[in-house]
Amino acid sequence: MCGIVGYHGDGEAAEKIYRGLKKLEYRGYDSAGIATAGNPTIKVSKGVGTVEEASETGLDGSSGIGHTRWATHGGVTQDNAHPHVSHGEKVAVVHNGIIENYRDLKEDTLSHVEFKSDTDTEVIPHLLEKHLSEEDTIREAVTETVDMLEGSYAVSAVLDTGEMVAFRKGSPLVLGVGEDELFVASDVTPFLEHTDTAVFLQDGDFLVIDDGYKVYRDGEKVNRPEKKIDWDAEQASKEGHDHFMEKEIKEQPKTVKKAAYQDKTDMQEAKKMIENAEDVYLTGCGTASFAASLGAKYLREQGIQAKAEQSHELEYRSQEVTEDDLVIAVSQSGETADLLSMLEEVQADVMAVVNVVGSTLARNSDHRLYVNAGPEIGVASTKAFTAQIAVLRLLSKVFEKSLEDARKEILETAERINETIEKNRETIEDMSRYMEDREHVYFIGRNKGYEMAREANLKLKELSYIHAEAFPGGEFKHGTLALVEEGTPVVSFLKDRGFEHAYSNMKEAHSRGADIISVGKKSVEESRFHIDIPDDPNSEILEIVPFQMLAYKTSVRKGHNPDKPRNLAKSVTVK
Ligand code: M6R
Repeated sequence: MCGIVGYHGDGEAAEKIYRGLKKLEYRGYDSAGIATAGNPTIKVSKGVGTVEEASETGLDGSSGIGHTRWATHGGVTQDNAHPHVSHGEKVAVVHNGIIENYRDLKEDTLSHVEFKSDTDTEVIPHLLEKHLSEEDTIREAVTETVDMLEGSYAVSAVLDTGEMVAFRKGSPLVLGVGEDELFVASDVTPFLEHTDTAVFLQDGDFLVIDDGYKVYRDGEKVNRPEKKIDWDAEQASKEGHDHFMEKEIKEQPKTVKKAAYQDKTDMQEAKKMIENAEDVYLTGCGTASFAASLGAKYLREQGIQAKAEQSHELEYRSQEVTEDDLVIAVSQSGETADLLSMLEEVQADVMAVVNVVGSTLARNSDHRLYVNAGPEIGVASTKAFTAQIAVLRLLSKVFEKSLEDARKEILETAERINETIEKNRETIEDMSRYMEDREHVYFIGRNKGYEMAREANLKLKELSYIHAEAFPGGEFKHGTLALVEEGTPVVSFLKDRGFEHAYSNMKEAHSRGADIISVGKKSVEESRFHIDIPDDPNSEILEIVPFQMLAYKTSVRKGHNPDKPRNLAKSVTVK
C-alpha cells in the first residue's frame, strides 16, 4: 500500500505533488508528507492524518517527492510518516512496500547512524547517502543500495542537488513523461491531468532523473517504451458527487457495457487457452475472489473443469497447479501481493482479468483481458466487480454462442442497472436507516447466491463497520442459526435455481425471529424488506448494485468516509 508521487520539472514541485497525493489517498491515509530539494537544502513537511497534513507552504523547489501512508512497520506517528531524510540531509525517500532485512542493515552497515523512526524505510536514505559519498555516479550508488535491500519496494528519492532516483521490486512505479516535466508515481492517476504518456518500470529497474530520465537494470541502461494511457483526468475526479464511491456505483451502466466490448481476437485466444488447459483455476482476493468464484461457476455450467480459490490459500497448493493448467487471475489493481506471490509459485500459464493497464499482473501474464472500468478510486470495489463479472460471464458464454450474441445479453443487463436502482431506491434508503443501529447482520445464498451474499456482506462491513457474515444457505443451520434472535437481520438471496431450498433456509431464520431482507424476482411474505431484481440472465450484476448503495448510504449515515474505510487501502501490496 502507500502512495508515492515524485516531480521534477519547471513547475512548483510541492504544489504538483500535493495535487498528485490527493489522487492517491485511496492507497493509504494514516499519514502524509512532502519533501522538496534545492535552494540549497531538502525541506520536509509531514504529519499524521490525510494529505492535508502535508502542507506545501514553505516548500520551494522544482523537484521533490510525496507520500501517503498505510502503516506496516512502525505506528502511525509523525516520526514514522514519510519522507525520511538521511542523517547528512542529502537524500529524502518515500517508500511503498516492506524492507525485510532492515533490522540487519540497522545493526550492521548502518550501526553508526541514529535512527529517527521505527520504520523499515529509514534504512534506504541512509544507505543511499552512504553509497553516494562512496561511488562516482548516482547510477553506481543506486546499484549498490538496491543490492543490499531484501523485500518489496517502490522507492522514490530526491537528492539535495535536485536530482531524483526511483527503483522498484514487487511494488508498482510508473514514470509520467510530460512537456518539461517528469512524474514518478504508484499509478497513473496523479499525473493524468498533466500527461497521458507513461513508462511502466519493470521489477529490478531503476530510474535516474536529472535533465531527462534514464532507466537502468543491473547497472546497464535499458529502453522502456513510452505508452499512451487512454484514461483521462476527468474519470479520476468526483464530477460533482460527494464521494468517488457514489460516482463509481452510478457509472456501472456504462462500465459494464465497456467490459462487454472485448476484442474478438483476445476472446478467441482466451477461449483457446481454456480449451487447452487440463484444469482451470480462478483466483483473486477480496471482492475479486468472489468474481473469480462466480467465474468458475459460469465455466462449470459449460462443462469446463474450473475451480476457484483465494490466492493466499491457493499458494499453499501451488505444486498442484501444473504447466498443463491455466490460472485466471482476477484483480482490479493488478498489484495485490497475495495474488502476485501465488502466481510466482505456479507453473501454469496465467490469464489476467484486470482493470489497471500496465499493472504488474497485466504485464506478467501470458494473456490479459482488461475489464475497462476506468480508474476506481473508492477503496471499496464496485464498478470493477461488475465489470469482472461481465467479462467472466462473456468468457463462459462464448462456449455456447457467438461473442456478439453473448455481448448483446450483457449490454441488455447493463441497461437494467438503472431500473434496478430506481425500483429499490426507497427501500435502500429505509434499509440504511434500519441498518444504522444493527450490530450483526447475516447474509445467506445458495450456489451463485452465495457469492452475492459474500460480496454484499463484504461491502456492508468494510464501509459501515457493522459485524456481518455470509454463509451458504445450507450451512447456516449447522451452527450459526444459534445467533439468530428476535430482530436479527438476515439477508437472503433467493435466486431461481435452488429457490425452494434457499427459501427454506430463509424460513428457518424467520421462524427464529429474524428480520428477513429478501433479494430476488419476487417478494415473499416473510420479508421485512425486499430488493426487487429484474428478470435477467446475468442477474448477479444487478443483485449487487443495491447492496453497494446500501453500504454506501449506511457508511455516510454513520458519519464514516466511504471512500476511505478505516484500516484499509485500495491496493494491498503486502502479504
Ligand atoms: O485490486 P484487487 O482487485 O486485487 O484487490 C483485491 C481486494 O483487496 C479488494 O477487492 C478488497 O477486498 C476491496 N476492499 C473490496 O471492496
